[in-house]
Amino acid sequence: MISVFSDDAVSLAALRGLRVVVVGYGNQARAQALNLRDSGISVTVALRPRSPSRAPARRDRFAPVSLRDGARQADILLLLIPDERHPEVYAALEPLLRPGAALGFAHGFSLVFGGLRPRADLDVFLVAPVGPGTELRRAFESGSGIPALVAVAQDATGGATTLALATAKGIGCTRAGAVWTTVRDEAVIDLFGEQACLCGGVTALVSASYRTLVARGYPAELAYLECVQQLKLTVDLLNERGPEGLREAISTTALFGMRETERALARSDLAGVLRRRLQDIESGAFARRFQGAVRRGGPELNLRHDVSDKERELASSGRVVRSLFLRGKAGLPRSGRSRKSS
Ligand SMILES: NC(=O)c1ccc[n+]([C@@H]2O[C@H](COP(=O)([O-])OP(=O)(O)OC[C@H]3O[C@@H](n4cnc5c(N)ncnc54)[C@H](OP(=O)(O)O)[C@@H]3O)[C@@H](O)[C@H]2O)c1
Repeated sequence: MISVFSDDAVSLAALRGLRVVVVGYGNQARAQALNLRDSGISVTVALRPRSPSRAPARRDRFAPVSLRDGARQADILLLLIPDERHPEVYAALEPLLRPGAALGFAHGFSLVFGGLRPRADLDVFLVAPVGPGTELRRAFESGSGIPALVAVAQDATGGATTLALATAKGIGCTRAGAVWTTVRDEAVIDLFGEQACLCGGVTALVSASYRTLVARGYPAELAYLECVQQLKLTVDLLNERGPEGLREAISTTALFGMRETERALARSDLAGVLRRRLQDIESGAFARRFQGAVRRGGPELNLRHDVSDKERELASSGRVVRSLFLRGKAGLPRSGRSRKSS
């Protein structure tokens, strides 16, 4: 069974009088800095010279300091920048951190797989919100919160657990629940989840389903509408009611077909593929390939623009389908709709 810390079980007292320095002002950093400040904690934002993040930080009434000044001032340094940058940034700042300071992360990748070995006198903890920064901030502002995974990697002062839980409370996550875990479990499960299911698995399945229909001559936009656009309805159902809720909500025909497809996929090598992905993560092989690519800085990291013809066709169908929904939302008359693309 997991241990979950609720809001009333955790105190912010450990953070009072301490200076929390947030490194970066991106997705997680902005949300965490704002939530902590709104919780009454002293927060400073630290950024590199000529950082494009200075403007948004200033707009939010922070006065960004340099990374070096941030490290010198920090009682708690939250390293909220891309994981592949952690080792080099930490190495530059480590000599400036005061003895007994604390170091916080939002993902365990660099600690478990990135070779980041914090100085022995530091408290090191993880508070990993289960969701993007925009959602963390939106939930906080509406008086609720999203859960976070919380763990301690190194308890040098004896106070790391208290600091980790207080940080989770400061960013609003104990309102939903702080789930106690280990840094390794968080790192492995997060990587596996995004590769196997949330990102890799879902995109592979929707595009394979779409292509199967299109290859047999069915209209691309109808294929997109069915296999991609409607996915949200299933995901919402799973999210709100779980697999059993999904089974109750869908038609008998859908349920019958779903069972047959599940059995067919189970007979394929799906489980083997997933098991090999997990072993690849656990062994550190995935991290080594990723870090090698980061070090080389080559085209293999330019993945956002590395799009195949098939993906372009899927994207083009998506644009047509989404424009229909946008027009529908705007209440445009039917005559205002675009003609069906070829
Ligand atoms: N995104 C999520 O939904 C999410 C969810 C849970 C946990 N996390 C974890 O949160 C951490 C941050 O992820 P993120 O997605 O929030 O990152 P992000 O938005 O990509 O971070 C961008 C910020 O990092 C700064 N930065 C980049 N490289 C830097 C460097 N070498 N030195 C100093 N600052 C640098 C950028 O500053 P410039 O303006 O100077 O470029 C910018 O302010 C990661 O550990 C991630 O795994 C993310």
